Amino acid sequence: MTDLSDLADKIPVHGMGDAAAFDLVGGWVHERSAQLGRPEAFAHMDPAPSIVAARLAGLNAEFNQNLLHPDLSPFAGEAERLVVKWLAPFFGMNAGHMCAGSTIANLAALWCAREHGATRVVASADAHVSVPKSARILGLPFESIAVTGTGRMDTGLLPDLKDAVLVLTAGTTGRGVIDDLGLAGRQRRQDGGPAWVHVDAAWAGPLLLTKYAGRLAGTRHADSVSVSAHKWLFQPKDSGLVLFKNPQAQQAISFGSSYLATPNVGVQGSRGAAGVALLGTLLAWGLEGLAERIEHLMTLSEDLAERLAADPRTELKQMPETGVVNWRPVNGTAEEIIAALGPVASRTDIAGEPWVRQVAANMHVDLDAVWSRIDDVLSGHGG
Ligand SMILES: Cc1ncc(COP(=O)(O)O)c(C=O)c1O
Repeated sequence: MTDLSDLADKIPVHGMGDAAAFDLVGGWVHERSAQLGRPEAFAHMDPAPSIVAARLAGLNAEFNQNLLHPDLSPFAGEAERLVVKWLAPFFGMNAGHMCAGSTIANLAALWCAREHGATRVVASADAHVSVPKSARILGLPFESIAVTGTGRMDTGLLPDLKDAVLVLTAGTTGRGVIDDLGLAGRQRRQDGGPAWVHVDAAWAGPLLLTKYAGRLAGTRHADSVSVSAHKWLFQPKDSGLVLFKNPQAQQAISFGSSYLATPNVGVQGSRGAAGVALLGTLLAWGLEGLAERIEHLMTLSEDLAERLAADPRTELKQMPETGVVNWRPVNGTAEEIIAALGPVASRTDIAGEPWVRQVAANMHVDLDAVWSRIDDVLSGHGG
């Protein structure tokens, strides 16, 4: 592998030209990237994106599209409105905008909640780090609720939710577990219920477009929802959505300025035209093509879990709810296995102990290739 330790010294006084620089830097990217689309890649929530999305993202970059100024990117604005209009009803939502991912989407949603009267944030201990981080940025106290043995928020431990924003996770980062989303509806109907309910569906939200939609049915009771399009909507980064029930809600997080033709919505100012690439994918695959890919990945995660459960060398934590498989070896440690598997697996801690985590994000995955790698490592030949 090329030694890059003296990279700063390589920046020349006289440039080498576009083609040479492209080859050189592109080569380093190739050499030093996990190949997310290779057959045994089953590690993180990051898939290789759809081809049409990757190409359109390149085109967006060439035209330096900017959603902040409608006159610079008139079609891009239209594309975003279109994809939001099409996607939002699957989540029971009515409006929203795209942003750089669910970290930003969560921040925007909690900010909006604060503008609508929420004074504290309540979420499970397994909520994504962006939730307590957003609370800190917004100056809101954060209350963490312990999870049960299954990884779901322990609803028996919920405090009084009056004036709170209750964050429920649809597909936790470590275990892919779905909180009791029905709580969104039940709490909203109560006197002294939360000021706002947000569903963080960064990972599993797209299941609402598939035959697994029932698992996320309670999402429709939320006031806002986050989805990372660069996960199970197969987009290149940075692509996410924050959706709102009330079509007017996001006006509270929109700012006008003398140099802006239209108010700037959400956390970001200038932002790329992620809607163009997402629209391209939806047109290329249709609802059926997208659903088939996700459903196929769900099946593969269940297959992998069954193989692990049946193998005396491994312990499965639980059957996957949203394509995330957690397991560990009976002999040896999860850390040894993760180190030996390399980018085929990732890691998560459950109740303070490390577990292997494998996520069904890669639409090009070959489960036999994944299993053969695991088998090799368990047999001691994989190092
Ligand atoms: C549940 C959950 N929420 C939020 C995020 C943050 O999303 P992003 O990486 O798009 O910023 C993640 C990322 O893995 C996640 O799993």
